[in-house]
Amino acid sequence: MFFRNLVILLLATAAIQCQQLLPPSIQSTNPASDPFKALAPIIETVTNFARLADVLLRSISYHRELGKEESNLPASPKTYTYSNTSDVYQESVLYAKLCAASNCKASYDKWDCGEYCNSTVPDGVVIRAFATHPLGVHGYNIQQQLVPHPRIPGAKVQLGLLSSMINIRDIVYRTIRDQLKLHPEYQVRVAGHSYGAGIGSLLTVDLAQRLPQLNSTNLVAYLLGKPRVGNKAYAAYVAEKNITIKRLVQVADGKYYRLADKNTLTD
Ligand SMILES: *[C@@H]1O[C@H](CO)[C@@H](O)[C@H](O)[C@H]1NC(C)=O
Ligand SMILES: *[C@@H]1O[C@H](CO)[C@@H](O)[C@H](O)[C@H]1NC(C)=O
Ligand SMILES: *[C@@H]1O[C@H](CO)[C@@H](O)[C@H](O)[C@H]1NC(C)=O
Ligand SMILES: *[C@@H]1O[C@H](CO)[C@@H](O)[C@H](O)[C@H]1NC(C)=O
Repeated sequence: MFFRNLVILLLATAAIQCQQLLPPSIQSTNPASDPFKALAPIIETVTNFARLADVLLRSISYHRELGKEESNLPASPKTYTYSNTSDVYQESVLYAKLCAASNCKASYDKWDCGEYCNSTVPDGVVIRAFATHPLGVHGYNIQQQLVPHPRIPGAKVQLGLLSSMINIRDIVYRTIRDQLKLHPEYQVRVAGHSYGAGIGSLLTVDLAQRLPQLNSTNLVAYLLGKPRVGNKAYAAYVAEKNITIKRLVQVADGKYYRLADKNTLTD
């Protein structure tokens, strides 16, 4: 069975723009020992409601700015469109459902993988689930400030996404490492939507850097509706290292929604 050979990592986000931040444990007494921990001083923490309101206001202005910025970006040089009968489309639907399994549920207070898991991974085992506030990934999705990526010279990435990734990277790394020890033939797939897709990009790079047994075939990310994560040096690094990241965009998304056939996907 396909899914027996699959370690799936679910990252998804609720439409909640505000999250709690890195726990105190992330702050290192010896920043030099871990380049990721060295970032702790610049990652903000929400401590009270007044601060929260401020964060929400900044979130609105962030999304406005981001929209402006995105509209000035050049179009992707290579874009592929798939019909709804293609394998790529079907595969994308699968990963979209997996994202929905962690994202679209009645209650954010308790984990219930529900019908999405039953229909997509009937023999799957959820080892660890992450979602956004209040239960899951700590991080700050509205810090759009670009900061140096601790392990990619010259690359800059969004601080909010990076802080969320740092929050879960060791848990994810240890889980995948242990599973690969037990099952070296496992395929690792990272799936994420929206903010979770942004974290998924950084996490895929992190896994590729830390687990030499992973390569462009056995590590693949399916990222849906992903925001921009970093600068050109970051994108160049991903390309140069052959890290397989499939960015999926429904043509119906955003400004294209009136123009295109809804039953196609653009990669
Ligand atoms: C694909 O799209 C066509 C035209 O919109 C629709 O009739 C058909 O049911 C769709 N097929 C699948 C498998 O979703
Ligand atoms: C999923 O499957 C389990 C076990 O078969 C069942 O108990 C549960 O009701 C199902 N949930 C949904 C939402 O289909
Ligand atoms: C990727 O790694 C797997 C397992 O280590 C190996 O079997 C496979 O040949 C590698 N593929 C490539 C393209 O390097
Ligand atoms: C990436 O893939 C290309 C073509 O498949 C190959 O020539 C190159 O050596 C690979 N680079 C790395 C770092 O694996």
